[in-house]
Amino acid sequence: MLAMNVSAPIVITIDGPSGSGKGTLSQMLARHLGYHLLDSGALYRLVALAAMKKGVDLANEQAVSSVAIGLDVIFSLENKESAQILLEGIKVSDEIRQEAVSMAASQVAAYPSVRAALLERQREFAIAPGLVADGRDMGTTIFPTAQVKLFLTASAEARAERRYKQLCLKGESVDMAALVRDIRERDERDSSRTISPLRPAEDAVIIDSTSMTIDEVFTKMLAAIT
Ligand code: DC
Repeated sequence: MLAMNVSAPIVITIDGPSGSGKGTLSQMLARHLGYHLLDSGALYRLVALAAMKKGVDLANEQAVSSVAIGLDVIFSLENKESAQILLEGIKVSDEIRQEAVSMAASQVAAYPSVRAALLERQREFAIAPGLVADGRDMGTTIFPTAQVKLFLTASAEARAERRYKQLCLKGESVDMAALVRDIRERDERDSSRTISPLRPAEDAVIIDSTSMTIDEVFTKMLAAIT
């Protein structure tokens, strides 16, 4: 399926809800193929964190979109595991993963002007030899002509359990019921917004990872792209 086209880099989009394993799998795939990686969720998290640090009212779309337009961010390495994400020169790689930032990111991601402000920044990641783009609207809005589109999903409970384990490993105290509730709330917000809602592209291959291991999903993904 990956036909070479010398004029354009190959783009593989991986969309899906949070906790579907997209982050880990996008990273694995980018490394396997030697491609660049776009973690688009990090951009929304950065806008949210920058707005929070500046004391901007998250309910004020115009103020938040000014933050998005002026976002001063450096991804020092394009893979999530060892990436250093610098916001105005300060390392925020861990801070942007906190629950409060997750909720705020979901809120700012619903603003059309914030999405517009981040559009070109995301497309600039598509450079040779190729890009693995991880997000919600990679296959539908940002890279509609991508050569391969994957949509990863899993039940809310399975996703909450994965998140629970991650947070426990980091020593954070978490309430499982609250995690399921937050995931449902975020899914609802991400899927029901009018602009770029979370949904599979018509030509996406859908993979439900509820009862699959990471390696099993990776094998399925490789089968879909070759
Ligand atoms: O993938 P993530 O959990 O890091 O994403 C953070 C938030 O940003 C999440 O609520 C969905 C939103 N998002 C989005 O609306 N569009 C994207 N392409 C990526 C993330």
